[in-house]
Amino acid sequence: MKAKEWAKHNPGGEKRVIVTKELPGNVWLDILARADCRVEICTSTEILTEDEIKSSIGERCDGCIGQLTEPWGEELFGALKAAGAKAYSNYAVGYNNVDVESATGHGIPVGNTPGVLTETTAEMAVALTFAAARRVVEGDSLMRGGHYRGWLPGLLLGELLRGKTVGVIGAGRIGAAFARMMAEGHKMNVLYYDLYPSRALEEQIAAYGEFLKSIGEEPVSCRRAETVEELLGAADVVSLHTVLDDTTHHLINKERLAVMKQNAILVNTCRGQVIDEAALVAHCREHPNFRAGLDVFEDEPAMKPGLNELDNVVIVPHIGSATTWTREGMATLAASNVAGILSGYPAWQDSDISPFLGGNAPKAAPSIVNAKELGLQVYKSEEPEG
Ligand code: DGY
Repeated sequence: MKAKEWAKHNPGGEKRVIVTKELPGNVWLDILARADCRVEICTSTEILTEDEIKSSIGERCDGCIGQLTEPWGEELFGALKAAGAKAYSNYAVGYNNVDVESATGHGIPVGNTPGVLTETTAEMAVALTFAAARRVVEGDSLMRGGHYRGWLPGLLLGELLRGKTVGVIGAGRIGAAFARMMAEGHKMNVLYYDLYPSRALEEQIAAYGEFLKSIGEEPVSCRRAETVEELLGAADVVSLHTVLDDTTHHLINKERLAVMKQNAILVNTCRGQVIDEAALVAHCREHPNFRAGLDVFEDEPAMKPGLNELDNVVIVPHIGSATTWTREGMATLAASNVAGILSGYPAWQDSDISPFLGGNAPKAAPSIVNAKELGLQVYKSEEPEG
């Protein structure tokens, strides 16, 4: 295997930080340089193996920014610990690729990048919903293939979504943002399934429903479903926004697909393993009016056999968070996590991370998922009281 190339930034820095992929923008590099870090960045677009990451950690490494495509478990956290590292950040909000328990066992804080992906990923779920509902990709291929012979009353008929029901599984930040976009922008009723009720979401959509009534339009509604099956049976669009763990692995399987409407649309922008992809391929084959919009895949980057042959599936390569603003924001947060811990700063406890995106960031590590387990100090405002 050819050795991967690495670039260096701020070579005179005292602390050594490795970053397993190039990240967008320059702000993150400045943050690490200001924390006296010399930064070594893998410039290859190929995914690094565990061995390659281990050898890049080497004998001395103070911190690391890794990717969601890498297996951050005992092997790598052991190597980080042995190299004297004090901080790790995933360049992602999701951290199902990270064994947090193992990191905690080695005393290593684990950062992630919440808050900057919310609207961006929700917009991708909207884009996939409409691409699937209105057969945008099929239309595009037909045009590019030179097969358009003129307007026809029955050409590529799709689904009108206004007034129908959108089901949202997982009503956290991204799920709730998607629900509001579909209710407030496209006048769909929302049914959500989550372990916890989201009163804020219910109230926001109820208030919008009242507004619609006041202008003489049909109101929209929002309520929590009792079960996943109830939601699947009632929804015209189902969008997945859960974390991936043992309870959500293959949440959508053959049996649950069978509960869905035959012309429903299933959208996934969270993690591929939440759907049994082979079952989805079979379902889409048998039900040509069923549609799916997928940003993530069970065996990413591979797809299950047959998926790429289905006209009723829209597929994009895990680009839900791929806007310049978001990816630069993720880089800022990941760098601030590592720089913050290496500078001895406390952990930020607020779910609002926006203060880190401006010029005058607080002296804290913005999002450390095992801060409590490690007993890290919590940030207290520097503003004088009273
Ligand atoms: C994340 O941050 O978890 C996303 O999947 C990256 O787009």
